[in-house]
Amino acid sequence: MQPSKPLCLCGFMGAGKTTLGDLFSKKYHLTFQDLDHALEKELGMNVTEIFETQGEEYFRKKESELLKLLINQYNIIALGGGTLLDESNLNLLLERSKLVYLNKSFTDLPKELPNRPLLSEESQRFLFEQRLPGYLKAPYTLDLQQLDESEIHGKLWQIWSE
Ligand code: S3P
Repeated sequence: MQPSKPLCLCGFMGAGKTTLGDLFSKKYHLTFQDLDHALEKELGMNVTEIFETQGEEYFRKKESELLKLLINQYNIIALGGGTLLDESNLNLLLERSKLVYLNKSFTDLPKELPNRPLLSEESQRFLFEQRLPGYLKAPYTLDLQQLDESEIHGKLWQIWSE
């Protein structure tokens, strides 16, 4: 099979991007990277520490730089919940990847999550509404509430192999 464009998973914090990317990649022997984890490894700090010591602007700059590299290196990438806020990230992803939105309704998202600096500062609803227009630009959507795990994997495989 011809190598596909990478699958890039977007969606709000707690939608399950990392878990799905990890499970799916193991099942189909594909390579996987999580953008936040790659950033943490590169900077030697967790996301909360990066926000606290360097600020959000620095985090976003590093996030964009790393995305440009990883998009050429992995089959599947779990993006950060705010990656699409940057229009150049969004355009890169639309052009060079298969961008998939993991759609979970606001009420089904977890209300507390570890190592998410923004959640403690601003209301989750505000962030969700700010990010949603970006997610809705993804050409593929998986409605997580309507599908069980094997259906989600099946749909993702279809997207990957088309
Ligand atoms: C963020 C989401 C987080 C992480 C950072 C900022 C956001 O990623 O990149 O805390 O702005 O929505 P996850 O969606 O993986 O939690």
